[in-house]
Amino acid sequence: MPDLNGHEWWREAVFYQIYPLSYADSNGDGFGDLEGIMSKLDYLSDTLGVDAVWISPFYRSPMRDWGYDVSDHTDVDPVFGDLADAERLIDQAHARGLRVMLDYIPNHTSDLHPWFLDSRSSRDSAHRDWYVWRDPAPGGGPPNNWISVFSGPAWTLDAETGQYYRHTYLTTQPDLNWRNPEVIEAMTEVARFWLERGVDGFRVDAAHQMIKDPRERDNPPAPPDYERPWKEMGEYDDFIHLYDYGHPAVHEIYRGLRKVVDTYPQSPVTVGEVHIFDLPEWATYYGEHLDEMHMPFNFHLMATQWDSLRLRGTIEAVLWHVPAGGWTNWTLGNHDEIRLASRLGMANARLAAMLLLTLRGTPFLYYGDELGMRDVHIPHALKRDPWGEAVAHLNRDGARTPMQWAPGDHAGFTTGTPWLPVSQSHPEDNVDIELDEPGSMLNLYRRLLSFRRGSSALRLGSYLSHPSSTNQVLVFRREADRETVTVALNLSDEAVEVPLRSGKVAISTLDAGRSELVQELLELAPREGVIVTHT
Ligand code: GLC
Repeated sequence: MPDLNGHEWWREAVFYQIYPLSYADSNGDGFGDLEGIMSKLDYLSDTLGVDAVWISPFYRSPMRDWGYDVSDHTDVDPVFGDLADAERLIDQAHARGLRVMLDYIPNHTSDLHPWFLDSRSSRDSAHRDWYVWRDPAPGGGPPNNWISVFSGPAWTLDAETGQYYRHTYLTTQPDLNWRNPEVIEAMTEVARFWLERGVDGFRVDAAHQMIKDPRERDNPPAPPDYERPWKEMGEYDDFIHLYDYGHPAVHEIYRGLRKVVDTYPQSPVTVGEVHIFDLPEWATYYGEHLDEMHMPFNFHLMATQWDSLRLRGTIEAVLWHVPAGGWTNWTLGNHDEIRLASRLGMANARLAAMLLLTLRGTPFLYYGDELGMRDVHIPHALKRDPWGEAVAHLNRDGARTPMQWAPGDHAGFTTGTPWLPVSQSHPEDNVDIELDEPGSMLNLYRRLLSFRRGSSALRLGSYLSHPSSTNQVLVFRREADRETVTVALNLSDEAVEVPLRSGKVAISTLDAGRSELVQELLELAPREGVIVTHT
């Protein structure tokens, strides 16, 4: 068994997110499960060649938000298997040298969690103060104007006890009260439970939302020309989230979590889901002494227009803001966003693969992007995502459809009826077919992953924007020890020539056989990306 103990292994790793409901179904019920994931570990570690998986929640859940509404943090929902399966999955992954990161969901629980059931049972129940209960506003109605991310007030009246409880997301996801030390202790126990089972870290859900203004002031309404750094969010956008977002008291909680995590020999990593786009503020999640998140999630690339100069600006700005000694990550997709190939188109998705896997920082890939999977249109009757019920265009089902393994029935995902429809493109876009095509998206990912694995310049080296960068081409250099690599991405629809030091083409996004020597001028076809090695 490989020795996985090691300091800061996550700096050199490539992560791959698995949405377990959609990865592989072993028992024909139409939902992916842990046994299914276990059957694909060879694909992950050998065929594809990633180093770590982040598995979205498989805890016990009534599935109102498909697992992000937890009713028992230390058990597995029967749809996925049982606790013994989770333990086997962790061990089997480790036996292949694959690390396992789980979701940790501190902001809220399910309304069916025993803590909340007790909390709502009476005003003086033992768990009352584990959640956020408030009297109605003086004239009646919710205590303030906060809106839930999924639309509608962030407060729901409990008729029995006459008070409102707060929920940043669904009414069925009541917010935990992180100002209560008992909550901190209980959720720390949850972290310990999984760390003791060997998990290699946590993706901390909604990491910037757990603590809010102690005075619970109303958010100011957003003026019509208010510029949002992120996607359109429906009613949530009617306000500037001054008082219910990114409260600094959250940092103390992360320092506490970090202390716990750091005591485990597997050197677990914490990656916070931090949707904050002001870079100095975002960087505070590392902690003043690098004692909070190992890596706040870096969504800045996803929020950047696909344009050479803009991308260059974002990359430089992010790297500049990462505190000395810190390390960032890069991602272009997850279970909450429109898929990469649908957002950018296939030609750009190939460039994006090269960009993600050559930047300085830990890449996070989303399952299926390695096949070029696109969002699937889901007919109304088959919709599953509660966000889509509230705001139709925010439906996330399209990016959560079953993984496409093979050309046959249901893409080899299930023998039953899949919980979400399988893409109609699956006869062409699937693992089996793509493995046989040298120029497929999958083989491009495999080449990039294998090259990165063998290149300390790409894994750990410095990043330098290259003077040949223009508004058409993004060019940068990565350097470590005596290894220098140049990455040149032509984001335009014209062929371009890039002045470059001599070297040799190692990978092209368009031509699997390209490997010529470069003498001062590198030719790039429209939308072609190339890695050049220098000796
Ligand atoms: C995070 C998750 C998202 C979920 C929400 C509420 O943003 O990524 O999928 O709906 O938290 O838990």
